[in-house]
Amino acid sequence: MMEVLPIFTNSPLRNYTYLIYSNRTGEVYCVDPYNAPLLLDLMKKMGLKLKGILNTHEHGDHTEGNLELKEATNCLVYGHTKAKNTIPGLDTTLKEGDICFSTEGESIEVWDTPGHTFSHLSFVHKNPNTILGIFSGDTLFNVGVGNCFRGGDPNTLYETIKNRYATLPDSCLLYPGHDYWENNLAFSNHVEPNHDFRDRFQKTRTEHFQSTLGLERQLSPFFRLGSGGIKERLTELGESFTDDRSIFLRLRKLRDRW
Ligand SMILES: [Fe+2]
Repeated sequence: MMEVLPIFTNSPLRNYTYLIYSNRTGEVYCVDPYNAPLLLDLMKKMGLKLKGILNTHEHGDHTEGNLELKEATNCLVYGHTKAKNTIPGLDTTLKEGDICFSTEGESIEVWDTPGHTFSHLSFVHKNPNTILGIFSGDTLFNVGVGNCFRGGDPNTLYETIKNRYATLPDSCLLYPGHDYWENNLAFSNHVEPNHDFRDRFQKTRTEHFQSTLGLERQLSPFFRLGSGGIKERLTELGESFTDDRSIFLRLRKLRDRW
């Protein structure tokens, strides 16, 4: 079976790195390495051999460990075609539909998911029957979506969330690039007060809680564009909207300034 190990980095940006590995072969791929010495130590202890680095996108907090890991292990660095000149140590470019790792009937497939930047990939963990999980980088967070300040576009992000992420099964595990639970829950409370499900969830949430797409659809305002509570609140805040897209854009703008 393919195993996934989330590694929370106690950086100011609360980054996550993920190890995707096979217990049978010891092969491991690393998504968005942050702290190379910590990762090298961990992989040594676990008896894993690093085959490749999968970068969701080109921002430095997602590629921080690339060169040190490559130097130490001779692994290959993978990323978006458009990030050829911006991802340190990039060896191999990836496009929509590529399979970057497969073992024991499971695979990691590439989705091209622009919005946060235009060179942003998501990595989809599949078995023959279903999608088991998604490594979303800075596209989708717990109870939120990525910002578009540094090379992105909120309209494009809306399309990616609507056309790709919204199609994932409820059981699909979410592996985001950062742990922004707390801030995003607080923002959600700001734009949709009195959301009973969220309020109940918040009381029982454990640190670094592992979410699913089904849960996100119930919690995240960016999936709840039809909610009467959100529409009422936007009107109260003086934000005009006509359709789902404009509600998404208003929410993204409010989150930027929040
Ligand atoms: Fe980013």
